[in-house]
Amino acid sequence: MKKRSSTSHVLRPTSNISRPRLLSGIQPSGKLHLGNYLGALKNFVDLQNSGKYECYFFIADLHSLTEEFDPKEKSKQILELMADFLAAGLDPKKSVIFQQSQIPAHSELSFILNTLTPMGELRRMTQFKDKSDDQENSNVGLFTYPTLMASDIILYDAKFVPTGDDQDQHLELTRTLVRKFNSKFGKVFTEPQGLHTDIPRVMSLGDPLKKMSKSKPETCLFIDDSPEMIESKIKRAVTDSDSVIKFDLEKKPAVSNLLKIYSSLNSQAVKQIEHSFAGKSYSDFKSSLADLVVNHFANYRKKKKKLLATHYSLLASLNSGSKKAAKVAGKKMMEIKKKVGLLA
Ligand code: ADP
Ligand code: TRP
Repeated sequence: MKKRSSTSHVLRPTSNISRPRLLSGIQPSGKLHLGNYLGALKNFVDLQNSGKYECYFFIADLHSLTEEFDPKEKSKQILELMADFLAAGLDPKKSVIFQQSQIPAHSELSFILNTLTPMGELRRMTQFKDKSDDQENSNVGLFTYPTLMASDIILYDAKFVPTGDDQDQHLELTRTLVRKFNSKFGKVFTEPQGLHTDIPRVMSLGDPLKKMSKSKPETCLFIDDSPEMIESKIKRAVTDSDSVIKFDLEKKPAVSNLLKIYSSLNSQAVKQIEHSFAGKSYSDFKSSLADLVVNHFANYRKKKKKLLATHYSLLASLNSGSKKAAKVAGKKMMEIKKKVGLLA
């Protein structure tokens, strides 16, 4: 008889009746970094494999148009994100994986939600404030980004939404809109709930008080960076003034961030890691962390390369997921239109 590994989850059939629905999306706007992976994608894979949820994961390509982009690159970025999803362990047989722009209902619902959303609510969104500060051509799409995100979630009656903690405010707005819509037009939508990993905000390698973000590539670990690049970025990561490897968010934010990354990647408690590096130097710790990151993503890098070499099947798989999602969303959209009075 085959031995079951101690860490494997029991998988239940995907065609389920009563599992709660879970949904999340990532923008195709370049390479994924360790923040995207530890705050979101790794969790997507674990949640999918837990067998407890009916999972929907998607490529938020419409959202990605709100920032500067090159139209020649966009379709490549979409396929690359699909390859990232599959190489990291998402499986189209277990989850519905789809492309947002293939499903018109997302945009339709977002317009209806716009009519229920006071401008003041959108103006106070921190992501809008941050991104419109950075960006010369701040646009209306960036402003209404949260109502499109709310549509993504509630069109599928998703109960759970795994994301990094930077999306909490958007999720709170989604819940407000659900209550508003339901009380104005009758109950149609479910209030979603966020799910975080134990590292919902990976900090920058250059400034532990700032979120790791692709806008600063040199202080950000991309998960398909070469082993040499990973080693060099970790070597250059800032540390704190003394030389003790100890978790202390207030006094030692830089080392604490590295310890959390270490702990998430090798599933060891931070205390245990502190213990094994007692008396050792930052450079010992960093070189061990670099090995861990390099090895963790070795398989992923290989798989991604292979997947991109057969991009037609990637595209076919994404289109097939989009068809499944479109059925669910289309049905929900009919119900919404009836409630609002657009359809008799
Ligand atoms: P980015 O924020 O890098 O532009 P996305 O907006 O597409 O990328 O984010 C994809 C997912 O990654 C979201 O769930 C987001 O919360 C998460 N995420 C992004 N940056 C971090 C970070 N530094 N730490 C943890 N999670 C993050
Ligand atoms: N706004 C998310 C981010 O920037 C991406 C996203 C779009 C999303 N729609 C969503 C996440 C719906 C969860 C659910 O990371």
